[in-house]
Amino acid sequence: MTQLSEIDLEFVPLGDTGLRTSELQFGTWRFGKETEEGNVEIDEARAHELLDAYEEAGGRFIDTADVYGGGASEEWIGDWLDDRDRERFTIASKIYWQIRDGDPNSRGTNRKNVRHRVDAILDRLDTDYVDVLYIHRWDDETPAREMLKTLNGLVEDGRVHYLGASTLRPNAWKVAKANEIARREGWEPFTVSQPRYNLVDREIEGDYLEMTRHYGIAVCPWSPLGQGFLTGKYDREEGLTGESRAAESSRFEDAYLTEENFDAHDVLDEVAGEVDATPAQTALAWLMHRDGVTAPIVGARTVEQLEENLAAATIDLSDEQVERLTETKPGPYDF
Ligand SMILES: NC(=O)c1ccc[n+]([C@@H]2O[C@H](COP(=O)([O-])OP(=O)(O)OC[C@H]3O[C@@H](n4cnc5c(N)ncnc54)[C@H](OP(=O)(O)O)[C@@H]3O)[C@@H](O)[C@H]2O)c1
Repeated sequence: MTQLSEIDLEFVPLGDTGLRTSELQFGTWRFGKETEEGNVEIDEARAHELLDAYEEAGGRFIDTADVYGGGASEEWIGDWLDDRDRERFTIASKIYWQIRDGDPNSRGTNRKNVRHRVDAILDRLDTDYVDVLYIHRWDDETPAREMLKTLNGLVEDGRVHYLGASTLRPNAWKVAKANEIARREGWEPFTVSQPRYNLVDREIEGDYLEMTRHYGIAVCPWSPLGQGFLTGKYDREEGLTGESRAAESSRFEDAYLTEENFDAHDVLDEVAGEVDATPAQTALAWLMHRDGVTAPIVGARTVEQLEENLAAATIDLSDEQVERLTETKPGPYDF
């Protein structure tokens, strides 16, 4: 297996911004996350080992959100950065989900919530700025102008460098609307996006990717391995054959363990065999070869998984192999 020290992740442009991101970003959603059974998927010691491993492979872009692990993700990243030069890392965080029961103002992108949440993020990360601030979801209850003017203020005062829009798949037009308002007003537009995208979840093909291309918006896909489905540890008949914490939910089974997805996985196995890689590495390599994709956000529960996944950066696929994988599950506009 390729060692971490042999990987050396490259920097690639973050869309049309002047910033460069590692070609594989590292996602920390599962830091401090409790499963339905009450198990913590990744504790603090493991979180720091994972960050060490990512750094060793040359990785410099860390993705978090203020709700991950109830704030634990940001705190543990902040502690880890204490011994390092913060300037060498790019950090993205997100705001949106309600954080106080019975308090509607503690949700969304209203001015009060945004300002308070960003203060709390900087406090937990123990830093003066985040490189990218995402809206985790679009808030239909706050006027776009209020959100954009508030976000622009954060960029102007230096606490945020770039603005991102996460998910928003059926709402590509809302990002376009926001960026047109920002252009007219001279405010900071959205320059980074974070949609779900992987070999079996193809809903962003079409409108969404056309929108990101038009605006030069970076595309950083989440769940690039379909929450572990694309790693070869699920069997058509037996279901889970390896170990998993993430898959302890019935929603996962309904969404991923389908005949259509297993058919796509068969082709993935075939191509993986041809390039002497694992299914996870091949699924990530396919995503990295897709037109319009900037840098997938890799998740992992163990250092071994992360090591396997980051080595995807060393896998080369031919155009024919990319095409064969692409054809396994045509996107909504490929008809
Ligand atoms: N913006 C959003 O709304 C949003 C939503 C979701 C995620 N994200 C971001 O995207 C990141 C990645 O998402 P994700 O965690 O869903 O990514 P993913 O890569 O699709 O799934 C990661 C999970 O798959 C399993 N896995 C990964 N590599 C494996 C390997 N080599 N062998 C076997 N199993 C493996 C692990 O879970 P088990 O071992 O437990 O099976 C791991 O936690 C998150 O950390 C977060 O930063 C953002």
